[in-house]
Amino acid sequence: MPSYVRAGSLPHKRHIQFRRPDGGLYAEELFSTKGFESVYSLLYHHEPPTATLAVKPWSRPVVSFEPNDPLRNRHFKTAALACGGDAVGGRLALLGNADLVMSVVDADRPMDYYYRNVGGDELLFVHHGAGTLQTNFGDLAYRANDYLVVPSGTTYRVLPSSPTRAVVWASSGMVKVPRRYRNEFGQMEEHAPYYERDFRVPVLREPIVEPGEYEVRVSNAGRNAIYTVRNHPCDVIGWDGYCYPYAFNLEEFAPITGKLHQPPPAHATFEAPGAAFCAFVPRMFDYHPLAVPVPYNHSSVDCDEVLYYVSGNFMSRRGVEAGSITLHAAGAPHGPQPGAVEASLGKTSTDEIAVMVDTFAPLQIAQTALPCEDPTYYRSWIEQPAP
Ligand SMILES: [Fe+2]
Repeated sequence: MPSYVRAGSLPHKRHIQFRRPDGGLYAEELFSTKGFESVYSLLYHHEPPTATLAVKPWSRPVVSFEPNDPLRNRHFKTAALACGGDAVGGRLALLGNADLVMSVVDADRPMDYYYRNVGGDELLFVHHGAGTLQTNFGDLAYRANDYLVVPSGTTYRVLPSSPTRAVVWASSGMVKVPRRYRNEFGQMEEHAPYYERDFRVPVLREPIVEPGEYEVRVSNAGRNAIYTVRNHPCDVIGWDGYCYPYAFNLEEFAPITGKLHQPPPAHATFEAPGAAFCAFVPRMFDYHPLAVPVPYNHSSVDCDEVLYYVSGNFMSRRGVEAGSITLHAAGAPHGPQPGAVEASLGKTSTDEIAVMVDTFAPLQIAQTALPCEDPTYYRSWIEQPAP
């Protein structure tokens, strides 16, 4: 919800008669959040979105989580995980708590149904691949290194044009631009590492006006259902407001760098209840003549830190690869591995790309993550004998 957007045809005032060329009325829908108290949009459908023909149970597999006990730092090599399928059905949950569930998926086919998660916003990160996020607000073309912010209640499907690896964070609340990046009116501040222009909004297509039987799978905090609806979810002639899906590519991120090491909050991208998101992108290193480019040792006593490694040379980490996830648990010190500090001295820039989430409640580990775990990771700060 970076700013007000309008798309397609709209009546000149809200809540008045708005007629189709055939004389019938368009069906206005208020898409609101926090009751009527927060951001919202108004959508104008060719036919009412309420025409439900059938509701059936949807038996989704229950994800079994276990505590990170004994408490330790963990490493999961997710690149080899079998998580093919469509972008919703193929998701493999790896980490989670009451605020957030983090999954990965290798979407290798289009969804032949629509999905609507009304349990909270979803944040997707496209590691590689391209395609279209088709929504009731229009189409969002996506590509590698895109974040996709999907508000709770958005009806969508993912149509990959090439196999797509995505990380999905399903929040229990709203995913927002951090408050400190916005002025009192909501506009992006000058010091923010991105600007309104950097966000892509859906392109509204010709409304699909073909009464039939369309499948919409609905999920809300563990309650699931398959709806059969008469009217196509993408029969919208126009919409406006502050609540809509949008995309942001890391190419547009203007990282904040400094004379000395900048901590993760300098690289914040989004925030959600109990979670803060950051992105590490190619950037110049610190310019103090004695600066140490890699991070210092660190004990994060208030949050679990999760990094998903995307591409480039991850200079401070040994043994990680693209698709690796490290979980640095609250209270377990972490930092550059042996030799990394010396190796970094004199380096002027990095080409690494990684995305991060810090959670303020402890994360649990999904049993589905265990097969790809490197069980020796917590010992990786021990000096290794020369090969
Ligand atoms: Fe840390």
